[in-house]
Amino acid sequence: MRTPLQTPHEIREQIWRELTRASQDRHHAWRTPVLATVGGDGLANARVIVLREVDVVHQTLRVYADARSPKVREISHEPHAVFVFWSDRLNWQLRAHVAISAETEGSEVQARWQRVRQSASATDYLGPIAPGDGLESAQGEAMSSDAVHHFALLSAQVLEMDWLELSRNGHRRANLRADGWRWLAP
Ligand SMILES: Cc1cc2nc3c(=O)[nH]c(=O)nc-3n(C[C@H](O)[C@H](O)[C@H](O)COP(=O)(O)O)c2cc1C
Repeated sequence: MRTPLQTPHEIREQIWRELTRASQDRHHAWRTPVLATVGGDGLANARVIVLREVDVVHQTLRVYADARSPKVREISHEPHAVFVFWSDRLNWQLRAHVAISAETEGSEVQARWQRVRQSASATDYLGPIAPGDGLESAQGEAMSSDAVHHFALLSAQVLEMDWLELSRNGHRRANLRADGWRWLAP
């Protein structure tokens, strides 16, 4: 049995270790969190997304998306979002409240696109119509050439984390911020 982590410092370190592992291991449960956003109409929206990169030093999570997708529009309107992770191995839920932005050009985008364009997921960013649009609008349209991609890099700086551990010995929950932490009632 794992020794329970006792201090918020230990918990915070372990969270970032698990996030880093998840970005590198496709079998890690935290590899596919839910990203929740707010639309221009003020309504919630959420979807599963792959956690691609974790920058521990800058406390930043990165994901990739089609630049034409609703989520990219939503975060340009409201640049705050929540990632929700669950792992039944850890028995941990993590809610990461983030400030999020999307880049569609520049050296950071190009560096990633050079890698992605050689992978099977390249076609995710070359479709003739935007994600969520009706298929009838695709008539006669071909895939874009890979010079004309719709790849967007989403960077999410973690502002606050809500950590919940389920345990037969008693659930534990903590709020972790850059400037402090608190135990919370689960
Ligand atoms: C396992 C899984 C992984 C996914 N990974 C991504 C991803 O990395 N990027 C992405 O944009 N959409 C991903 N999707 C699709 C999204 O959940 C969503 O359907 C799509 O991006 C459109 O979202 P939107 O309309 O909210 O913009 C994934 C879906 C699943 C089920």
